[in-house]
Amino acid sequence: MSFKAALEADQEVPESWSSYMTTVYRGRKPPSISSYDPEKLEAKAREVTKKNEAAFLYVFGSAGSCSTDRANRKAFEKWCFTPKMLIDASDRNLETTLFGVKYKSPLLLAPIGVHGLLHPEGELCAATAANNMGVPLIMSTAATRSLEDAAKANGDGPRWYQLYWPRSEPLTLSLLSRAKACGYTTCIITLDTMCMGWRPYDLDTAYLPFNHGIGIQVGTSDPVFMQSQGTILEGDQQSPYGGHEYSKIPYPFDPVACDSAREAGDEFHTSLKTLGRNWSRQIHSGLFRTWDEIAFVRKHWEGPLVLKGILHVSDAVKAMEAGCDGVVVSNHGGRQVDGAIPALIALEKICGDSRIRKAQIEGKFTILFDSGIRRGSDILKAIALGAQAVLLGRPYMYGLAISGTQGIEEVVRGILCETELTLGLCGFNSLDEIWGKREEVMDKLELGFYN
Ligand SMILES: Cc1cc2nc3c(=O)[nH]c(=O)nc-3n(C[C@H](O)[C@H](O)[C@H](O)COP(=O)(O)O)c2cc1C
Repeated sequence: MSFKAALEADQEVPESWSSYMTTVYRGRKPPSISSYDPEKLEAKAREVTKKNEAAFLYVFGSAGSCSTDRANRKAFEKWCFTPKMLIDASDRNLETTLFGVKYKSPLLLAPIGVHGLLHPEGELCAATAANNMGVPLIMSTAATRSLEDAAKANGDGPRWYQLYWPRSEPLTLSLLSRAKACGYTTCIITLDTMCMGWRPYDLDTAYLPFNHGIGIQVGTSDPVFMQSQGTILEGDQQSPYGGHEYSKIPYPFDPVACDSAREAGDEFHTSLKTLGRNWSRQIHSGLFRTWDEIAFVRKHWEGPLVLKGILHVSDAVKAMEAGCDGVVVSNHGGRQVDGAIPALIALEKICGDSRIRKAQIEGKFTILFDSGIRRGSDILKAIALGAQAVLLGRPYMYGLAISGTQGIEEVVRGILCETELTLGLCGFNSLDEIWGKREEVMDKLELGFYN
């Protein structure tokens, strides 16, 4: 029965993203994350991690003065909806098709490294939450769990893989073949992190988990990487050095304690540190790749291939020409180039290009977006500007810090509930009705933007 038919018959309405609001009011229970407001969510995450402050700052912080992070969010205020009335928007849905697969919503969990800084189960919480909600997990190469273990936790849920491109070809091929073997359907190569940006929040405390072997577990579970370290994995890929010995990975991670253990001769921490350094040399090596090298990955990945970190129109066009299936317009949440253009403004420009738009409409090229998504209305604005789906970043990490799997689910459900309600209240039933129709759906404010 449709939503409208149920309402007309005065019956219980079918479940939808927006019915979550009814559940919240009826249950009269505040969420475990304490607030659906993104700023209060961030404050709560800060509070619950106060004994683990550097971990919170690692997630919260951005490059340089953090101006791009602030500008990312501010850019959404530039656009405002002009809702239309007396339109039947009783039956709404957020269904979105990406690379021929229909998803329940236009939201994916952004690839974020080192979940184990904020929760002892690391990426397993996001993998489980993604399955429970039918939202794709994008698994990072900088994770604290193996690709295989995250896939197991994700079950038959949708999952994509994000590649930090190693220096070594055999290692790159090993990662791609593992990702394929355990059901990651789409590969996203992140281009904006050939080396890490200048991040004062982490530099001030010299805090870099990879150096201590935290966030390298995709590497320590990789046969090619471990063989290159002189460590042959056993047939079942059990690593003596921490690939799967998650219980030995310290939580909360304390660099001082790791150093002391090492200095006292602890073998596990000693080898983890060496592996961490060598893994970082592979994936954040400082070796800058160039456009002609994309052909290598294209040749070895049969599924959809997406480039992340695109901000310039000409780069989006080059991605198309290089045979990629899409891009993520993103500035990495302002964590790489301080002063980089706000991602939403880049999206406006890229989707305003006639070559890109034509390819999008013909179904030949997909534009995804992240950097600054905090609310349902942000998602709709990105879609009206031409994005086909968005990646949610820091907010789900705050949900993770506060209450693990449940916290991530509450963050995602809240945002998607708001998305669906806002869509209807503006007079639309589906995302197709607003996709790429910025002028029909929104007005651009020039005055007052910088107040
Ligand atoms: C703590 C942290 C770790 C991240 N790790 C990765 C990563 O491993 N791979 C990647 O492609 N992007 C990574 N990102 C960038 C996100 O995928 C995404 O682009 C960013 O979070 C968007 O900005 P927002 O969270 O402010 O919306 C990371 C972001 C944060 C905050």
